[in-house]
Amino acid sequence: MKAVVYKGPRDVVVKNVPDAKIARATDVLVKITTTNICGSDLHMYEGRTSMEAGRIFGHENLGTVIEIGSAVDRVKLGDRVCMPFNISCGFCENCERGLTGFCLTANPGNAGAAYGFAGMGPYSGGQAELLRVPYADFNCLVLPPDAEEKENDYVMLSDIFPTGYHATELAGDSVVIYGAGPVGLMAAYSAIIKGAGKVMVVDMHKDRLALAEKIGAIAVDDSDGSGVEQVMAMTAGIGADRGCECVGYQCCDHKGHEVPNLTMNNLVKTVRPTGGIGVVGVFIPEDPQAKDKLARQGQIAFDFGQFWSKGQHMATGQANVKAYNRKLCKLIAEGKAKPSFIISHELPLDRAAEAYENFDARKEGWTKVILKPGH
Ligand SMILES: NC(=O)c1ccc[n+]([C@@H]2O[C@H](COP(=O)([O-])OP(=O)(O)OC[C@H]3O[C@@H](n4cnc5c(N)ncnc54)[C@H](O)[C@@H]3O)[C@@H](O)[C@H]2O)c1
Ligand SMILES: [Zn+2]
Ligand SMILES: [Zn+2]
Repeated sequence: MKAVVYKGPRDVVVKNVPDAKIARATDVLVKITTTNICGSDLHMYEGRTSMEAGRIFGHENLGTVIEIGSAVDRVKLGDRVCMPFNISCGFCENCERGLTGFCLTANPGNAGAAYGFAGMGPYSGGQAELLRVPYADFNCLVLPPDAEEKENDYVMLSDIFPTGYHATELAGDSVVIYGAGPVGLMAAYSAIIKGAGKVMVVDMHKDRLALAEKIGAIAVDDSDGSGVEQVMAMTAGIGADRGCECVGYQCCDHKGHEVPNLTMNNLVKTVRPTGGIGVVGVFIPEDPQAKDKLARQGQIAFDFGQFWSKGQHMATGQANVKAYNRKLCKLIAEGKAKPSFIISHELPLDRAAEAYENFDARKEGWTKVILKPGH
């Protein structure tokens, strides 16, 4: 099969590799029809994680079931399915509580597994023609009859729509979101779906901010570094009820220099006293290549005194996609949500290298790329 293979920093290649196949009775094999590139792939692509060369990327996957393990009951041949990026067992203590992003058995010794992901188990990704799906009865979301027609919407259920929704879980009436990438835009979209009165999205990229405006959010252009002041002015000097971090450890100042603590401290500044902060942007336990000394050890200089004085609270981590994907699937089926609005490029798998290069450069107009292995 053809697959997107990581060779080293800023180097991916589409090449022939051995076919994915069923390894355990609880697996199914999926023929991938759509698979997205994510901001999380970029941390790996840039060589800023422990991702091993030779592995296949791709954790935002949708396709058709073409083979079924002997212990699979629910999922049927020919089902069109979307998989959460998290791989989870369904029977461990965390899975039982719905915390499927932190499964204790799928990646022994760690909490949480995923397809084609640094540090999240040996599983291959789905930027390929075929994908092995473990614990298929638990991990496959079987899609409604309009799956083919709305494929570009349903594929967002694999990660960024539930992740954006997760970021706004404690949403109040006003929300400030740092980052207008795919995740930040989905957080804004989710806050709007939930009925938030004022949704402010901070970024420096005008094309991404324009998409935020298109869905009814307020674009806060931070390209002159005035984002925090603008948010405070729009919230009567008090700050937003709720804040979302949708950038992660590679966040930059308005001049493009990495400043790892910038978004976190901006959130403390622009969320009101007793407000909540949801952090879905990825932060990692060590980042040996960081320029910042603290960041190399996975630390940031966090304004904890101000955070404490303001009585704020915070939640972090990989999103438990399964907690939301069924509900969000129904919104798409009923025509109440159309997350495909963020897609800028729909390309054949063969053009993955070019897609990575442009999306990584945050090149104007490249907001979200989806790959179609069948084309
Ligand atoms: N927790 C989860 O489950 C989960 C799931 C998917 C993605 N993620 C993470 O979410 C983050 C965003 O992903 P994405 O796909 O949207 O990626 P992205 O990198 O395309 O988007 C990040 C955006 O943040 C902007 N940005 C950078 N510095 C900023 C600053 N100081 N203030 C405001 N905006 C700033 C960038 O211009 C960019 O538009 C990544 O860290 C990704 O790994 C987490
Ligand atoms: Zn993702
Ligand atoms: Zn589990």
